[in-house]
Amino acid sequence: MLADGAARRIAHYSGLRAEAPRALEMPPAARVSSPLERAPDMSDPNRPMRILLGVTGGIAAYKSPDLVRRLTERGAEVQVVLTAGAARFVSPITFQAVSGRRVRDELWDEAAEAAMGHIELARWADRVVVAPATAHFLGELAAGLAPDLLTTVCLATEAPVYVAPAMNRVMWAHPAVRANRALLEQRGVRFLGPGSGDQACGEVGAGRMLEPHEIAAAVLAPSLATSAALRGLKVVVTAGPTREPIDPVRYITNRSSGKMGFAVAAAAREAGADVVLVTGPVALDAPPGVRRIAVGTAGQMYRAVHEQIEGADIFIACAAVADYRPHAASREKIKRSEPEMALSLVRSPDTLASVAALANPPFTVGFAAETHEVAKHAREKLERKGIDMIAANQVGPDCGFDRETNSLTVYWPGGGERAFGETTKSALARELVALIAERYRASRGAGAADSKAEA
Ligand SMILES: Cc1cc2nc3c(=O)[nH]c(=O)nc-3n(C[C@H](O)[C@H](O)[C@H](O)COP(=O)(O)O)c2cc1C
Repeated sequence: MLADGAARRIAHYSGLRAEAPRALEMPPAARVSSPLERAPDMSDPNRPMRILLGVTGGIAAYKSPDLVRRLTERGAEVQVVLTAGAARFVSPITFQAVSGRRVRDELWDEAAEAAMGHIELARWADRVVVAPATAHFLGELAAGLAPDLLTTVCLATEAPVYVAPAMNRVMWAHPAVRANRALLEQRGVRFLGPGSGDQACGEVGAGRMLEPHEIAAAVLAPSLATSAALRGLKVVVTAGPTREPIDPVRYITNRSSGKMGFAVAAAAREAGADVVLVTGPVALDAPPGVRRIAVGTAGQMYRAVHEQIEGADIFIACAAVADYRPHAASREKIKRSEPEMALSLVRSPDTLASVAALANPPFTVGFAAETHEVAKHAREKLERKGIDMIAANQVGPDCGFDRETNSLTVYWPGGGERAFGETTKSALARELVALIAERYRASRGAGAADSKAEA
């Protein structure tokens, strides 16, 4: 028995208030197992994926039991770890019922530590997913603090860490939270969302946790890292919009955020490729290990791609390049004098078609963003540009641009087609890159592709 003061100190250190609910006692139910009961068997490719699901103290925690269900339905084993805040929103017994495992919610739990210490828990996981992730949790992780079991496991694990933030839109936009996000992304933490829409607080904006089925799809997407599907290959990716100057202060651009192209570059890198990312102006950090080349106009993008394309095996054109640019940008700011003005536009250079037309072109993938008749326009573009594959998506006020999620249908010559349903752009990018690797090998002959990988 601990003295009151010691109990309070321990409760404080573990992030629990002295009066916070006690950790759940081990229930007698036979179906509730400890992770240690099943020894890790990395040699068995058919063993279920092990997901450590961290739940933190946000209102969206009410969706997390559904996430457990979605993950287990798809064959994963799920071990839930709650923060003290999360346990105030949803009872541990709920998670225990849906996961079939004893929930862990304390760092300083002698019985649980004896069965499976926090380090073993960190090693057990194939993936760590924190959903919802509060502003507080992101701050602790960014600062490298480990005051409770979940943050300790996140620091101690070598498994990929995914976070699905959920918070009020003003909190999400706060510079401190943005800086934490940028730092964590730089360190390889994968952000799933947040999405935009109605919030629990009655406001509307960015900060909603993605839906459980979107998170489950993103987390269980095939692992490119283990497949090394593009090892030894050079991949050039374009991303973002271009800016076509009208005068020194004005330009023509479009709504592309660059998120899809950056996600594709990250996925290609994860699959083992040497990746060059040629990007228009966007507010995103380059994924780790990817070489970034920043450009402004369609002309600059054309030149940068042609400088990099030598020796490239795959070219993926995700950028939303301006089709037209002002004929001549004014050297001086155009004055507001005339009641009307006309802009004369000329066609910009077509980077995608020019790469496909090279004497020895790389495997070339284009994107088609269409507002209507998506399949028809995409197939036409595939043929017209003479490319190997096209990924088409519907764009409009509510889909496509500047969102965290997307869906794609991919077409290739000879009538090939594959649809990827709505999910996060990073999950979609992984599925797309896996398909590109598959089609690249089919087009070049598996033997040639393998010898390149071994070289
Ligand atoms: C009713 C209520 C709802 C909350 N919802 C959120 C939320 O959605 N996102 C968030 O970041 N913090 C939210 N908070 C604040 C967190 O619970 C608080 O920062 C807590 O310290 C988080 O601890 P944890 O990250 O260790 O779970 C909420 C607090 C309360 C009282």
